[in-house]
Amino acid sequence: MSALAPTYARYPVEFASGSGCVLTDSDGVEYLDFLAGIAVCSLGHCHPAVVAAVQEQAAALMHVSNLFTNAPMVRLAERLVERSFGEGVYFANSGAEANEAALKLVRKARPKGDVVSVHGAFHGRTYGALSATPQESKQAPFAPLVPGFRAVAPTAQAIAETVDERTAAVLLEPVQGESGVHPLGAEVLAAAREACDRVGAALVFDEVQCGVGRTGSLWAYEQTGVVPDAMTLAKGLGGGMPIGALVIGERLSGVFAPGDHGSTFAGGPVSAAAANAVLDVVDDPDFLAGVLERGERLAEGLKELPGVSEVRARGLMVAADISADAPQIARRALLEQHLVINATGPATLRFVPPLTVTEAEIDAALARLYELL
Ligand SMILES: Cc1ncc(COP(=O)(O)O)c(C=O)c1O
Repeated sequence: MSALAPTYARYPVEFASGSGCVLTDSDGVEYLDFLAGIAVCSLGHCHPAVVAAVQEQAAALMHVSNLFTNAPMVRLAERLVERSFGEGVYFANSGAEANEAALKLVRKARPKGDVVSVHGAFHGRTYGALSATPQESKQAPFAPLVPGFRAVAPTAQAIAETVDERTAAVLLEPVQGESGVHPLGAEVLAAAREACDRVGAALVFDEVQCGVGRTGSLWAYEQTGVVPDAMTLAKGLGGGMPIGALVIGERLSGVFAPGDHGSTFAGGPVSAAAANAVLDVVDDPDFLAGVLERGERLAEGLKELPGVSEVRARGLMVAADISADAPQIARRALLEQHLVINATGPATLRFVPPLTVTEAEIDAALARLYELL
């Protein structure tokens, strides 16, 4: 019996090391990684710049608490503000925690206000984030949830009809990740912006999965024509180190005061140093153009594979609907083809490789999938 709590159905593979897009298991077998720790290892495994940043910072200062500032955290906040709509940043340790901070922020801005989210959304497993994640199987065993959450269809009309003077915020992923890469339409995001402006509510984008270059722009919202009032980040930001962030725009910038929220580990210097190293690479127009190009190569290649009925893609955030049993194909891809991918549903495979993936690695992954499909 395992000493681990059984909250995951884990695959029977244990990875021992990684480099770029390649993982090596404890028997020395190599795998091509098109999951990247679920969109986390944005520069691939053990990128030299991230490793160096972590090693140097760990040797200098690991933790001081948020009773003090630390230089990597301050620098990271300044960079996030400079490169987005933000005026301030609250740091967290994960995506769910960044969303919890966002929920508290918008509630404080509009006391007792409702939060509107949409079907298909995934915002995390903590109580607030889970309450904004309208999935019966994830919510039901843990009822009662946090009150004041409303879930509607991800359509312009449903959002426009639901948002009213009691609404504190609309929380949306510009590109839904866990539901199988579903970009919300420009008209949906525009309707949410308009509805929030109409009633003075906040528009919050959850870019935990789609942010930090994943879609081929630094932030997914940049491709939508809609600017939110706040945005949450995590996953790819730390390149493998745990860090989350809530970027707060002008409308909400005066809301949080000392004592309102906090976290012992958040904004720690080692994670912040890793995130700065990630931004050094990702925040570059040539790098981002490469993400778009290679994402297109992956998407086009997937369309050619047998049994693929639909491909949805934004940069290197890609999903394919297939006629076969997707969880079984993902398992066989791992065990037979040594290709790491995952299934987000019974008929959907998701591909979120490191943003540094090469054309040759994309072609190799497609060839391995072809064998299975
Ligand atoms: C869009 C989105 N928001 C929030 C989360 C939760 O992040 P974490 O697992 O770091 O708490 C996830 C995780 O998959 C996500 O994809």
